[in-house]
Amino acid sequence: METITKLIEFSSEISILEISYLIASILFILGLKKLSHPATARSGNLWAAAGMGAAILFTILFHKKEGEPIGNVIYIVIALAIGSFIGWYSSKKVKMTAMPQMVSIFNGMGGACAALISLMEFPKMQNMLASEGAAHMLGGEGIAILLGLMIGGVSFAGSMIAFGKLDGRIGDFKHPVLRIINLTFLVGLFVALVLILFMKPVEGNNLPIYLFALAALVYGVTFVMPIGGADMPVVISLLNSFTGVAAAMGGFLYGNQAMLTGGILVGSSGTILTILMCKAMNRSLLNVIIGAFGVAGAAGTEDGDKTVKEISLSDAAVLLSYSQKIFIVPGYGLAVAQAQHLCHELDNLLASKGVEVKYAIHPVAGRMPGHMNVLLAEADVPYEKLVEMEDANNEMSNTDVVIVIGANDVVNPAAEDDPSSPIYGMPIIKALDAKNVIVMKRSMAAGYAAIPNNLFYHQKNRMLFGDAKATLQKLVAEIKSL
Ligand code: TAP
Repeated sequence: METITKLIEFSSEISILEISYLIASILFILGLKKLSHPATARSGNLWAAAGMGAAILFTILFHKKEGEPIGNVIYIVIALAIGSFIGWYSSKKVKMTAMPQMVSIFNGMGGACAALISLMEFPKMQNMLASEGAAHMLGGEGIAILLGLMIGGVSFAGSMIAFGKLDGRIGDFKHPVLRIINLTFLVGLFVALVLILFMKPVEGNNLPIYLFALAALVYGVTFVMPIGGADMPVVISLLNSFTGVAAAMGGFLYGNQAMLTGGILVGSSGTILTILMCKAMNRSLLNVIIGAFGVAGAAGTEDGDKTVKEISLSDAAVLLSYSQKIFIVPGYGLAVAQAQHLCHELDNLLASKGVEVKYAIHPVAGRMPGHMNVLLAEADVPYEKLVEMEDANNEMSNTDVVIVIGANDVVNPAAEDDPSSPIYGMPIIKALDAKNVIVMKRSMAAGYAAIPNNLFYHQKNRMLFGDAKATLQKLVAEIKSL
């Protein structure tokens, strides 16, 4: 009885707002869990969005500042409407191949929000401490504000540069001097953070915080500038985790549990993804951050004497129809050609002839994590048919044909046999372990890492040149006519 009375007393102390934050946090976690499988990812997104929507709505309705409801509701609603419209419109308009750019921009906006919160809260905190005659600004609030500003600023500026690079508007800038500049900036930022915390608060003395914000922005730019090539996805995921941590700082600052949970979830999932991608590319995070990609070693040389064998549509149709086991290796070009539906049609057609068809998925195929999974899920390819790289490689030796569709770097044997190659050490799909390889692409052009691929010249390989969609269309027709 006593326990029940205590429980009732306790629950009456918990405000509606806190309960709504708890519900929002649960929705974030469930949404994140659902995001881990393509079949449930869409609903996972909606669950997490519902959690965020609830947190915003209940904050507007129930948050009290010094006993008063929050003001400026009309501005908040207008900002929400504009933001939601931009988000909705761009998600409708953006091409599948430009998703990484959009992710970069959205991520940058998160970092900018966190930084702006800090820029707004610092003067208030300083003025208050100054009026109390405090000797310094050291304390939980000060640390959260400065870390939020630093990490959010770096994330915003870095994400904007990452967007420019992915969109082909900004090139890489690699110079050994940049490493020294970056290290100096990083150390300098932490030193400045400590100095500001120990500064005597003086009302209106905001110059140090503005300079600190500027330094964080500059560091964001110089941090991402040298990173390029195949390392970009890792950087985007790292910046994503930065934004999460910066948002969590806002959660600490306001004692807002929903913001804190959301930030921690984004920060930790971004960190896990960063580590997984580094592992998939067999590179250390430090190696990625100092921008070593493409700097060391020659980028492999193309031998002019080598010959490339082509395969005709009819020969390809016969080879595929009379195979027992086939692996399709999808890559960025499949997404560019929007050939996923035809790819599934080919797979169904061959399956109806008794051929076992599966897809070998490289973790960094395409231009964003899970790109191929999303693309193939869009074409209703059953998830069970998608085989992860390691498992696919184990099955390669008893595979009759590997069809590489618009992939290049992820099947480049230089990663295994050319120590001077920038991608040396990156795990690849071992197409050459199969009995035959067919590569579908438009030309002999290089892939994202801009290095030649000796697979194309190998005796086991034959090229089927052309746009993936047009080629698959003709190939499907050819197989049907057999
Ligand atoms: P890539 O190495 O970029 O090769 C794609 C190939 O597709 C190109 O060589 C291109 O050759 C061909 N292609 C383009 N349009 C085509 C079309 N319409 N029809 C047929 N082929 C077409 O792709 P990948 O093998 O998927 O490797 C991904 C690369 O991107 C890796 O280096 C990876 O590190 C990097 N990256 C990955 C991510 C993530 S997280 N997945 C993010 C950023 C960067 P043609 O021009 O001759 O047709």
